[in-house]
Amino acid sequence: MPLATRTDIPVIAIDGPSGAGKGTVAAAVADRLGWHLLDSGALYRVIALVASRQGLDQRDGPALANLIGGLDVAFSPAGVTVGGVDETLAIRDDAVGGAASIVAAIPEVRNALLATQRRFRDHPGLVADGRDMGTVVFPDAAAKVFLTASAESRAQRRLLQLRDMQRLNENRAGGRVSRRSQPVVPEFDALLRELEARDARDRERTVSPLVPAPDAHTVDTTAMTIDEVVSTVMAHVAKHVPLDG
Ligand code: C5P
Repeated sequence: MPLATRTDIPVIAIDGPSGAGKGTVAAAVADRLGWHLLDSGALYRVIALVASRQGLDQRDGPALANLIGGLDVAFSPAGVTVGGVDETLAIRDDAVGGAASIVAAIPEVRNALLATQRRFRDHPGLVADGRDMGTVVFPDAAAKVFLTASAESRAQRRLLQLRDMQRLNENRAGGRVSRRSQPVVPEFDALLRELEARDARDRERTVSPLVPAPDAHTVDTTAMTIDEVVSTVMAHVAKHVPLDG
């Protein structure tokens, strides 16, 4: 469907820094509404992963844009594949997250991904999670939410998430996991430092910096459970998006 006719499809934009709960909340909201989900961070992670494997310079805009043009990325409820290979766990590695925030600062990369992200806008609606969903990719989103939390609580959540992933990986492989395929779980202090460095890069870059859209509803999730955040977001959505039923 051409882009021009998609603007009548409602979008809920959920933005914020790493570890604020965006991914979990966006998935829960999309699930409740039966809408599509865009995890835009996963796209930047895929680019960082493939660029690193190909030995590309993380700051070479034209080479990265060229790489994006030829990428075969597919999302499913089970995860993400690149060229048919399951990379769900590989892109969650913390080093890949750090590299993603470096390639994400390159204007050619952001431009090359704009149309890809907008193609996720499909009936009956889209929940989009990222840093610039409400400001740049879907500025006409019907509802915009900006999730924040203290850096310490975000690092703590990220640590638990990485440990869960490690356990999942071990269970999947029946305990036989090679070091190479296992995501590395850093210490809390290292994770906090890396998260703060990533936040700074995301906030200070010149293209699409991490800022709340002027019309976004900001929610500080530091002292909230995921269920509380989902209810708060749903209450905001109900005020701005006409929902059936
Ligand atoms: O959300 P996630 O941690 O998976 O994103 C990885 C990195 O991708 C972020 O640190 C950020 O630099 C970048 N990103 C972005 N714009 C988005 C989504 C992610 O710049 N919309």
